[in-house]
Amino acid sequence: MSNILIGVSGGIAAYKIPILCRKFIQAGDSVKVILTENAAKFVTPLTLETLTKNRVYLDDFLTDISPRDIEHIDLAEWADIFIIAPATANTIAKMACGIADNLLTSTYLAYKTEKPLFICPAMNTNMYQNPATVDNLNKIAQRGVNIISPIEGELACKDVGIGKMQEPEIIFEAVKDKLSACNVLNGLKVIVTAGPTIEDIDPVRYISNRSSGKMGYAIAEMAKKMGADVTLISGPSNLKTSLNVTKVKSAINMLNVLKQKVEDCDILIMAAAVADYRVENISDIKIKKSSNELHLKLIKNPDILFELSKVKREGQVFVGFAAESNDLEENAVLKLKMKNLDMIVANDIKREDIAFDSDYNEVIVFNKKGSKLTIKKDKKEVIAEKILKEIKAYING
Ligand code: PMT
Repeated sequence: MSNILIGVSGGIAAYKIPILCRKFIQAGDSVKVILTENAAKFVTPLTLETLTKNRVYLDDFLTDISPRDIEHIDLAEWADIFIIAPATANTIAKMACGIADNLLTSTYLAYKTEKPLFICPAMNTNMYQNPATVDNLNKIAQRGVNIISPIEGELACKDVGIGKMQEPEIIFEAVKDKLSACNVLNGLKVIVTAGPTIEDIDPVRYISNRSSGKMGYAIAEMAKKMGADVTLISGPSNLKTSLNVTKVKSAINMLNVLKQKVEDCDILIMAAAVADYRVENISDIKIKKSSNELHLKLIKNPDILFELSKVKREGQVFVGFAAESNDLEENAVLKLKMKNLDMIVANDIKREDIAFDSDYNEVIVFNKKGSKLTIKKDKKEVIAEKILKEIKAYING
């Protein structure tokens, strides 16, 4: 049973909102509705008040009643879940810029970012596909807003194309599905490694790789959303996160930090791109370019996963990634066995459109019991969620 706040902005799809309210009420939830000035022209407050048994909130700034609470703060605190449907291009743009010029957008700003928020865009196809709207949607999605994408169909303007708001039944199911996923990792301690490692040559130069940290950070953030207690250990990366990050530099640093922390975790996910070799003799001073050749002797770094597998406790789950440029599946399965892992996530690092430094990935997840799951190309956040669900399914047996 949750407190559902529905913010309605001014689009024809507002006529479907009473049905959405009804679905939640039938499921035992409490519903309150905010209407923008334009939304109130499409759907009446009376209909919604009759259905929800709650006052409908408008931009009315009433003065004829005793001092009112601070509505946008109170509503933001009251809500467990906030759904903005239909979300017009204008409201989406305000959300992207942090403009709070009505009750709906003020409540959005006051709503804690860690609580679930869904938006259901609805508009004309050209408006939906306009780069401004595309950018705005990307911006708010990156801040963790769940977007229930519109579908194709006949629009109010008689155009046929994408932009029609999803049906209330689909919105209801999408919200409920997402929320059940939110608790999937409750009570579990998860360590995620991310980013590259850096192996010094001298005070100026180093050996590293193209990992940005995006995949590992996406997993760590998603694991947190799904209820886990998350520790993120990251090599050098410019990514921002609200999680606490333990920053490390070299493979040896990463191994040492993990040795201290691993005993306490339930799940270890190694998305970091760890350097396999380091320079044997790091120079204390900058190496001069006096000769035509520079010979570096590289020695092998410890294999972190293999080392940690020696102290792995019964019940712990270790997940590796396999970054492969050829024979993806064969090499991944070999690494699964050699590193004594429960699961391995294989990605093709030769492709420009996924993996290293891309916002997207496409992976195949193998587990040691012989299962294989292909997760098609998608944003790393979505890939992260599917990998974590697969890990949970493995734990559940
Ligand atoms: O950071 P992004 O830009 O988002 O890119 C994501 C990614 C491509 C880096 C990520 O998806 C990925 O594939 N990470 C693993 C990179 C890697 O080191 O793969 P590998 O096949 O060389 O190693 C296999 C596994 O052993 C990995 O889990 C790795 O963390 C681990 N390893 C590797 C070397 C080493 N000395 N010790 C290790 O534990």
